[in-house]
Amino acid sequence: MKKIEDEEETKDYEEGEEQIEFSEEEKELLELPGVGPKAAEKLIKAGYRSLMSIATASAGEIAAACELGEATAQKIIDAARKKLKMGFETAETILEKRKRIYKITTGSKALDELLGGGIETQAITEAYGAFGSGKSQLAMQLAVNVQLPESEGGLEGACVFIDTESTFRPERIEQIAKALNLDAKNVLKNIYVGKAFNSDHQMLLAEKAKELIEEKNVKLLIVDSLTSHFRADYSGRGELASRQQKLNRHLHTLQRIADTYNIAVYVTNQVMARPDVLFGDPTMAIGGHVVGHAAMFRLYLRKGKDNKRIARLIDSPYLPEGEAVFKIDEKGIRDA
Ligand SMILES: Nc1ncnc2c1ncn2[C@@H]1O[C@H](COP(=O)(O)OP(=O)(O)O)[C@@H](O)[C@H]1O
Ligand SMILES: [Mg+2]
Repeated sequence: MKKIEDEEETKDYEEGEEQIEFSEEEKELLELPGVGPKAAEKLIKAGYRSLMSIATASAGEIAAACELGEATAQKIIDAARKKLKMGFETAETILEKRKRIYKITTGSKALDELLGGGIETQAITEAYGAFGSGKSQLAMQLAVNVQLPESEGGLEGACVFIDTESTFRPERIEQIAKALNLDAKNVLKNIYVGKAFNSDHQMLLAEKAKELIEEKNVKLLIVDSLTSHFRADYSGRGELASRQQKLNRHLHTLQRIADTYNIAVYVTNQVMARPDVLFGDPTMAIGGHVVGHAAMFRLYLRKGKDNKRIARLIDSPYLPEGEAVFKIDEKGIRDA
């Protein structure tokens, strides 16, 4: 006998009740079976603002957030997955897609070589390291380099820059652009900067970035820093699990953007001291395995002598581990 599922009715608004306005993306939630305006509002309030965030959630999460039965929640998730066409692709399709991977130069040949030619589209590249190791400098250099013609290592594209630590400096962009003989004013016009005030705002900006990307030939999305707000917002005892869950969702959004629009994503990350390491480098990246799994390329940056920096490639799926030395000077990132 077929078990009767706990089908719930999603009540619509009563007369006179206050209604919220849905954004274009949020309106898509209403197309899911069993999701009326009221259920959509609950989903949105719980942070599920897009089909993607629902498609990658678990039935338990959705059920708890929206006071639904798990079976109903699962139906909503399945429908979101179907709408996003998440499923299997043939290897041929994947190969075709991989042929469209492009690379952006970092400004240093040595660093480009370490990365297999530069930072790739369809992937997340993470740079982690101590304060002053050059993570933001590389971010600003890439924001300029992506605008170069392809013959010079760029993609003739624009950049979306999510700045969470207020360290983005347009004056530095000018300096880097001039060193490449680019029209600094034009370069500045092609960088769309969003300042994130907290982790939720940061996640929202990443969702919002899609609109810009569709409109403006964006080829690079930067989040500098990926983790600082998450670290501050979920610093209490017992908050680690929620932090990792949110961070995971944010990274899914970023990966999805990289794939869908064939753009490069560059994120920065701090390190923290590891009390359990006695020998070797006692530092590790924030966000642990959640960030580690999501980032296809992980660069560990550290300071060397003079203004030199050492980059180490960590755990790449197909590139050899190795190190590159580069320098940061007034022109930007260059070979040492
Ligand atoms: N205009 C410049 N000329 C030379 N070096 C610079 C310039 N701007 C920044 N730097 C170098 O970059 C360092 C800061 O790197 P940054 O990318 O901000 O570090 P973080 O890894 O904390 O983001 C400075 O300490 C300095 O060595
Ligand atoms: Mg920085």
